[in-house]
Amino acid sequence: MNKETFAIIGYGSIGRRHAANLAGLRPRARIVKVDPARVPGVDFQDLAQCLAVYPSLAGALICSPHGEHLDALDTLTAVGIPVYLEKPVCSTAQYGNYKTYQRVSQISRRGVVVGMGFQYRYHAIAESLQELRDEIKQLDFVARDDLVTRYGPTVAETMGSHSIDLALWLLGPAYAVKLTSNGLTLTGHILHATGKVSNYDINMAAGPRGSTIAALRTNGTARVVPIDADEWMYQRCLADWLRLIDGAPSIRHRLALLHDGLAVQDVLGRVSALRHMKYSREAQ
Ligand SMILES: NC(=O)c1ccc[n+]([C@@H]2O[C@H](COP(=O)([O-])OP(=O)(O)OC[C@H]3O[C@@H](n4cnc5c(N)ncnc54)[C@H](O)[C@@H]3O)[C@@H](O)[C@H]2O)c1
Repeated sequence: MNKETFAIIGYGSIGRRHAANLAGLRPRARIVKVDPARVPGVDFQDLAQCLAVYPSLAGALICSPHGEHLDALDTLTAVGIPVYLEKPVCSTAQYGNYKTYQRVSQISRRGVVVGMGFQYRYHAIAESLQELRDEIKQLDFVARDDLVTRYGPTVAETMGSHSIDLALWLLGPAYAVKLTSNGLTLTGHILHATGKVSNYDINMAAGPRGSTIAALRTNGTARVVPIDADEWMYQRCLADWLRLIDGAPSIRHRLALLHDGLAVQDVLGRVSALRHMKYSREAQ
């Protein structure tokens, strides 16, 4: 019998967590792992080897470092394999390059399902904010975290893209962007096409205090739901992607794949965020 097979591209920290969550969500699936590092559990050293054995994957999760994302995304979508892409879509070095933009546009026109690994929109606090989205005129992202040790020098790419995604999701697409980052800070604002504004005053190297989510919480606009958010958000984000692949009717009412809108929504060439989902017309 043909077993549904998924591939994890990059079997590091997040790749392992997604593999475990996927196994929980799809207990019958075969999950193969691709990683150049010869670590236990890895099945293939590169994507080409994997596709030679499994040309019709049910889906692939790209969990490699930022700079490797675009190549894998291109290869997989070219042969029609649905992708769950960890954020950000590319590194800052690649961003700002017109070729990158063209490449992303070309990929988006293929119409293959691409889900993004943005988790914060699945946080209970963000969901509470969503209920208030009509009333929200301005969102302030304020964080004073020491996340450098944990995420390294590209911390702004790693963490900043979450708050940008969250704002685009809640307040609508960007109309004008004025954001600056030195890799550790993210400051400025986005003026959204809806006339709303998101402000960023994020310093990722300022010593432990609140996180971006914690800052949202202290604004007092959202309910505080004490949960261990991480794994729960990862699972829900993954589950949404699986529903998209399956074409489950429940999700069609809520989400539509933006095959015409897959775009790098960037921010002064420093942090990339990929907006991949929108509310479908049917949902309104
Ligand atoms: N959505 C989230 O909340 C979240 C959380 C953590 C990480 N991430 C993203 O996931 C990505 C990976 O982060 P991580 O913390 O797991 O890093 P990591 O360093 O722990 O793992 C990356 C793995 O990819 C492998 N790799 C390198 N080049 C590869 C290639 N060409 N093909 C396949 N594998 C390759 C490495 O050997 C390594 O095992 C980053 O882009 C990061 O921003 C997202």
